[in-house]
Amino acid sequence: MSEVKNVSIHGQWSSRWAFILAATGSAVGLGNIWKFPYITGEYGGGAFVLVYLVSVALIGIPIMMAEVMLGRRGRQSPINTMRYLAKAEGRHGIWSWIGWMGVLAGFLILSYYSVIAGWALAYVFRTGSGAIQAVGSAGIRNIFTELVSDPERLLAWHTIFMVMTMVVVARGVKNGLETAVRYLMPALLILLLILVGYAMNTGHFYEAVDFLFKPDFSKLTGGAILTAMGHAFFTLSLGMGAIMVYGSYLPDNASIARTSIIISIADTAVALLAGLAIFPIVFSFPELSPGAGPGLIFQTLPMAFAQMPGGLIFGTLFFILIVVAAWTSSISLIEPAVAWLIENRGMTRIMAAVWCGVATWLVGIATVLSFSKWAFDFNFLGTVKHNGVFDILDILTANIMLPAGGFLIAIFAGWMMKEKHSREELALGYSYTVWQFLIKYIAPALVLVVILNLFEVI
Ligand code: PHE
Repeated sequence: MSEVKNVSIHGQWSSRWAFILAATGSAVGLGNIWKFPYITGEYGGGAFVLVYLVSVALIGIPIMMAEVMLGRRGRQSPINTMRYLAKAEGRHGIWSWIGWMGVLAGFLILSYYSVIAGWALAYVFRTGSGAIQAVGSAGIRNIFTELVSDPERLLAWHTIFMVMTMVVVARGVKNGLETAVRYLMPALLILLLILVGYAMNTGHFYEAVDFLFKPDFSKLTGGAILTAMGHAFFTLSLGMGAIMVYGSYLPDNASIARTSIIISIADTAVALLAGLAIFPIVFSFPELSPGAGPGLIFQTLPMAFAQMPGGLIFGTLFFILIVVAAWTSSISLIEPAVAWLIENRGMTRIMAAVWCGVATWLVGIATVLSFSKWAFDFNFLGTVKHNGVFDILDILTANIMLPAGGFLIAIFAGWMMKEKHSREELALGYSYTVWQFLIKYIAPALVLVVILNLFEVI
């Protein structure tokens, strides 16, 4: 069992900005560029986006502050941080289960995340070689279908991405990663803006703006609301300890509120820009549909790149940057487990990374097969899902485990922790009351209402 520590044995970020970059690197990922557009398409646009934005503001930001705060106070892996804090606050050790559930969620998410990142890796080569230029729109769709229905190829890309992730995790979060994020995230933003510029000239830009921002509440099913709220957790990396463990490496004097708000705004901006880049393209090709599912960006963006001047270069760069965005997120998915293995099993960082990598890789095989042999349709609260095990893993983690984890974190930070302690750690002045109100009442109540509504309790 670990003893009380106030300094993390894993090291510390070199500055507040390094933390902001790393946490933004964790938050901005496939969730923004791949998942946000396709679920927005599946759930009908505007009203879904509105629920997502409200969730980010009222649930996401206060819970992000709580996670950073708990992490920095505990300065250990989320499992040990929660155990230590529960003890320090005179509460039951069972609160460390937040950490355990987070570790499990991290494994499950990374297992499919890595497969999808593998698609993006494959597309670096598909675009770079000019393959998408030559084939026309039907051909572009075929390239996608062929890729995902070939488990062997998917397995190869999944393996490469897992190795990439484990190499960085093994080297420690600080070396390599800070530098990568510093240069590559701004590059991603610039390319995204170029794509939005292209999309503005497709003649369907306003249709896309309407689709994204004009709410049609008749499309808002229980499943849509749950998915939008779950996505707020997913996209901000909340509810499973990733932000908590990053917070445990945060210098003492950094403002938790300011950093959390910057990270959330950056993350939301990237998602909205991705939507504004992708939907005009969707609407300008009659054969594409917003509800195309997980393949949406792989079928739309190549169409734009095939026609754009310089599309070969922009396209290749863009998929490289998606891979990088996924990379900086995937290391944070596994860091809570790695930190725990180092603390409690006395493993070296390298060994811990290898064990976690192998375990996640194995689970990932289920997703590899989800688009071919293990594909099946099922009905999720009124929306038909086509990709069997992958969809189940996604719903289980993003829609259930992360909101449940976030709910418990809110209860711990708001009700179990002494006010004196959270006041001291957040150092907020008057606005402390706003956070306190959100974390004690609003955030947990909203999560609960959405879930109870599903079971038709209310
Ligand atoms: N936030 C990441 C994304 O949007 C995914 C993620 C979820 C990362 C949970 C860490 C923890 O792609």
